[in-house]
Amino acid sequence: MPISRLPMLGRRFLMLGGAAAFSATGLRPVPAVARAADSAVSGGSTIRLIARPGRAALAGPPHSEPETTVWGYDGRVPGPEIRVRQGERLRVVLENRLPEETTIHWHGLRVPNAMDGVPHLTQPPIAPGESFAYEFDATDAGTYWYHPHVRSFEQVERGLYGPLVIEERELPRTIDRDVTWVLDDWRLLEDAQIAGGFGNAMEAGMTGRVGNTVTVNGRVTDGGFAVRSGERLRLRLVNAANARIFGLVFEGHEPVVVALDGQPVTPHAPEDGRVVVGPGMRVDLVLDMTGRPGARARVLDTYYAKLEYRLLEIAYGAEPLRDRPPTAPIPTLPANPVPEPNLARAERHAVVLGGGMMNHLEGALVDGRWLDAREMMRRGLIWTVNGTAAAPGVHVHEPLAVLRRGASYLLEIRNETAWPHPMHLHGHSFRVIARNGVPTRHREWQDTVLIPRRESVEIAFVADNPGDWMFHCHVLEHQAAGMMGLVRVA
Ligand code: C2O
Ligand code: CU
Repeated sequence: MPISRLPMLGRRFLMLGGAAAFSATGLRPVPAVARAADSAVSGGSTIRLIARPGRAALAGPPHSEPETTVWGYDGRVPGPEIRVRQGERLRVVLENRLPEETTIHWHGLRVPNAMDGVPHLTQPPIAPGESFAYEFDATDAGTYWYHPHVRSFEQVERGLYGPLVIEERELPRTIDRDVTWVLDDWRLLEDAQIAGGFGNAMEAGMTGRVGNTVTVNGRVTDGGFAVRSGERLRLRLVNAANARIFGLVFEGHEPVVVALDGQPVTPHAPEDGRVVVGPGMRVDLVLDMTGRPGARARVLDTYYAKLEYRLLEIAYGAEPLRDRPPTAPIPTLPANPVPEPNLARAERHAVVLGGGMMNHLEGALVDGRWLDAREMMRRGLIWTVNGTAAAPGVHVHEPLAVLRRGASYLLEIRNETAWPHPMHLHGHSFRVIARNGVPTRHREWQDTVLIPRRESVEIAFVADNPGDWMFHCHVLEHQAAGMMGLVRVA
């Protein structure tokens, strides 16, 4: 539903490849090839990253590649996959060679506040030509990612993001291959360049910026994702899109969810066989390759009704790895040292998400001042958290709540808007304990929770990480249009 409300993108967005391949909204239903990010860098020593313009092969044929101008870490999309072992210390020096300020936020990692990468709040923004050294311990194993927190709606959209994998101290033994798919979508013009209009207010009040070209690890091609019969894969999905929600179906296969947002979960089949990944979120799957040599199977994205498309094709090689996938049960990953909230003693807080198109908003508090809806609109503000809208680009706010360090909290987040919101809390992982008042089956740990329109969730966590932490929607246009606040742990 949300995508069909997008204004028509117009013909210039629909020119890549055969016209039949496009829906009226400019969604581009094309196959993509997947390759693991081809440049893992590992910890132990200092990792150097340069944020700079570069060129990438996003559009695929018939464009000669690579020709899309992007901003990327080391000029590439996605940026290098950072891989370290749990317990190691990670030191990353970022050099800014962009034409504007930037930072890196380590999405999902429970880092010390000063390393969180939020401009003005936790560090001065890194000016063009300057560098900043990030250093912290890799406490929790799992799948994470990194991206800027300065004008994210444009910087992430131009390609600044990369996967970060923290390996378990002991790797799960029955896994044959560990693969990362970073999912993103782009709005490309017919010359394969990224369309402007970042943070467009009209879109910001609805779905956010949804693109017309979907990539896996920065590629769209007709090649398949190569596998072998009998293999058992661990597939790490990262949604780096500004606004697109993915709902992946692996035809003929039975993916098992083993981790969400980096944190282990009781292995289980996804609801309705569909793996839903909202912006900012990660899902780790174990996938048994049960097909025959030479077989092909489609991976479809069916999240938006009537806008299904084939994301890519799984292509079995001629040589099987073994006769059938391992019969050993799918391993439960070892728990991370996340403190368990005490629900009996947890203090309850309500968080209400408001605003957006299709809702009547009278106004909101902005920087402590009441602005009516008209005045808000003039400043590009459309969304609220507890009646407050965060001024664009400003990360320093009066806290929504001040939490006592070490105490347990239960937040009931009510989405009173007509759009889904993936809400992200920095510095902590929380348990999702209920949806619409009904206890969740897996009490999953997350750092980003997708809340459908007009629904509610309850999350619980121990406020054990001191500092000021952002709490915002990860639809980056929503974040920029006010849906952000700050939680202080003191
Ligand atoms: Cu992934 Cu505050 O962001
Ligand atoms: Cu949102």
